[in-house]
Amino acid sequence: MAFEYIKPATDSLDHSGIQYIEFLGILDTNLRPSSYFEIGTSGGGSLAAFTCDAVCVDPQFRIEAAPPLNRKRTLFFQMTSDEFFGSQRMRDYFPSGPDICFLDGLHLFEFLLRDFINAEAACRPNSIILMHDCLPVNERMAERTMRVDETEDPSTRSAWTGDVWRILPALKQHRPDLRIMLLDCGPTGLVACTHLDPASSILVKNYDRIVDDGMNLSLNTLGLDQLWRMFPTVDTRRLAAHPEDITAMFNIS
Ligand SMILES: C[S@@+](CC[C@H](N)C(=O)[O-])C[C@H]1O[C@@H](n2cnc3c(N)ncnc32)[C@H](O)[C@@H]1O
Repeated sequence: MAFEYIKPATDSLDHSGIQYIEFLGILDTNLRPSSYFEIGTSGGGSLAAFTCDAVCVDPQFRIEAAPPLNRKRTLFFQMTSDEFFGSQRMRDYFPSGPDICFLDGLHLFEFLLRDFINAEAACRPNSIILMHDCLPVNERMAERTMRVDETEDPSTRSAWTGDVWRILPALKQHRPDLRIMLLDCGPTGLVACTHLDPASSILVKNYDRIVDDGMNLSLNTLGLDQLWRMFPTVDTRRLAAHPEDITAMFNIS
C-alpha cells in the first residue's frame, strides 16, 4: 500500500508536497493521537497543528497566541531537551508513551541524535517519530552555523537546517530495523520513523563513533541527490487524498 505513494527515483528533487505544519494537522485529523511530544516549540506553529495532550520542550518559548485549540493539557518545559530527559520521565505524563513525537530543536547533528535516542526510549514500538529539516535544499543552509546569503533566492536565503541531515546516513547504517520514510513537505522535508525499538541500545553504545563518522561526512561529497534518495520519499499530496491509507501507513492504535 505505502508503495503506491512512493515517488519514483526519476522525479525531480523538490519539496513540492504539503507544507509541514499543514501535514502535521492532517496526521492529527486522521490518526487522532492522544499524546504529542515536541522538542522545539518556538512560537507554537507545529504545536497548534495538534489537538491532543502535549508535552513541549524549548529553552526559550516564544508563544504569543494561545496555542491549545481543543487541547485539555499542554505542558511546557522551558529547558533544553537534554535537561528535560535528564530530569523528567515521559511516562509520568504519557503512561503509554507519546503517540507522535516531533523533533525540531537545536539543528545540530549530535543534538538531534541524542533527541532521537531519548525520544525512542520513551516511545512504544508503534509511536511515530517525525524529524524536521533533515532534507536541506542547498549546502549553505546545512552549515553548522546559521548564515544568510543575500545572493540566494529570497525564498530560501534565511532558512537554516543545520547539519541534522547527518542523522539519515547514521540511521541507515546503524538502525536498519527502523522503517524510515521521507515526506516531501516544504520547506525542508519531514522524516518519519516507525517500527521503533525503545529497548535498542545500538545508538547509545556507539554514540561517540556515530557522531565522529557523521562529522566526517561532507554534504558536498555525498551529494543532495544521494541524501534525498537514502530512503523512500512519500508523495504527501497523493497520500492526503486517501485518508484511509494514512491510518494504514501510520498505525498508532
Ligand atoms: C525551528 S524552532 C521550532 C519551530 C516549531 N517546531 C514550529 O515548527 O513552529 C527551533 C526551536 O528549538 C529550540 N531549541 C534550541 N536549542 C534547543 C535545545 N537544546 N533543546 C530543545 N529546544 C531547543 C529553539 O529555542 C527554537 O525555539
